Amino acid sequence: MSDFTSGFWNWYIVLITLLGIAGCAILLWSQSRYKVRLDDKGQPEKTTGHVWDEDLTELNTPMPRWWMFMFYLTILFAIGYLVLYPGLGSYAGRLGWQSAGAYQRELAKADADYGPLFAQYLKSDLKDVAADPQAHAIGERLFLTYCAQCHGSDARGNKGYPNLTDNDWLYGGDPSVIKETIMKGRNGQMPPMGAALGSDKDVENVAHYVMSLSGAPADPIKVAFGKPKFAACAACHGPDAHGNPMLGAPNLTDKVWLYGGSPETIMETIRKGRNNTMPAWGEFLGEGKAHVLAAYVWSLSNTPGSQHEVAAK
Ligand code: HEC
Ligand code: HEC
Repeated sequence: MSDFTSGFWNWYIVLITLLGIAGCAILLWSQSRYKVRLDDKGQPEKTTGHVWDEDLTELNTPMPRWWMFMFYLTILFAIGYLVLYPGLGSYAGRLGWQSAGAYQRELAKADADYGPLFAQYLKSDLKDVAADPQAHAIGERLFLTYCAQCHGSDARGNKGYPNLTDNDWLYGGDPSVIKETIMKGRNGQMPPMGAALGSDKDVENVAHYVMSLSGAPADPIKVAFGKPKFAACAACHGPDAHGNPMLGAPNLTDKVWLYGGSPETIMETIRKGRNNTMPAWGEFLGEGKAHVLAAYVWSLSNTPGSQHEVAAK
């Protein structure tokens, strides 16, 4: 139990702790012996006669009994605590409680309690899990704990963090793909393309072409110049710019933007590239929880159990 390398420190701590408690007790005892001072006529004096700063006087009132009593109680508490719990040097306490591994023990207990439940879900198809109200509630709680800091508590995302409710997917919206994303993580990489395009003018032209793809107002002349240059982008985003879920290259023809659809933001993306990481959760959460989470995320943009699921793009 003890990490001390020599017995000295054990006794050192025991001694300091006990002396400290004894010191408090003696102080209390000596103060409670203090009686109200009487003047010549046998009446209690108003002040002790101590004066500071010319007119600050100390009143002649001993501490109330209940007040002293509370301090004695804290001393009793301290002794009781030190008997039951670790605190006196390397003495482990009668209860044998220890903080080392407390979190692991809690986790192990939770796994034992909920493990069978997750194992049960793991056997079911993701779309069936999505239709299960209890699984949905668990998924929501897991999401708020592990995912909300990046994707938002409403899962609508933020700049650089994809919206998970719009049924528009970087990597594909099939529930099994969502599960793979959660288990293994993702790393979307777009290289800086400024040099490949040529001048800054070219970057601007391509940006306007990209804007025109989703019907945003764009300068037609720049669009015309940018269009042929988009060949450099087609390898990843596709010749029709519909994106590539294998690479996580977004569809550039819809109005959904990961970083933003303004000319400045698009030019920044083209010049500097983007590097974006979704952490892998498989090892940390285990497959059971990832399964429930995938079903939950999928259900945010699909109606589980319905025959009219919105087709994933
Ligand atoms: C540290 C921030 C962070 C956390 C935490 C996080 N994500 Fe992500 N997630 C991202 C980023 C960034 C992306 C986009 C990756 C990319 O652009 O390649 C992403 C992408 C995704 C995608 C793919 C979306 C698509 O359009 O294909 C899913 C699904 C997803 N996350 C679900 C989750 C779930 C479920 C959790 C909780 C277990 C979670 N994420 C936790 C940052 C995070
Ligand atoms: C090597 C593959 C690759 C090439 C080449 C490439 N991109 Fe990308 N692009 C990506 C990936 C992957 C992402 C998503 C990055 C992320 O997940 O953060 C992306 C993101 C973007 C975005 C952000 C979209 C949004 O929703 O905010 C724009 C705009 C973009 N690319 C335009 C271009 C243009 C224009 C070119 C050509 C000049 C180009 N890309 C070339 C892979 C590529």
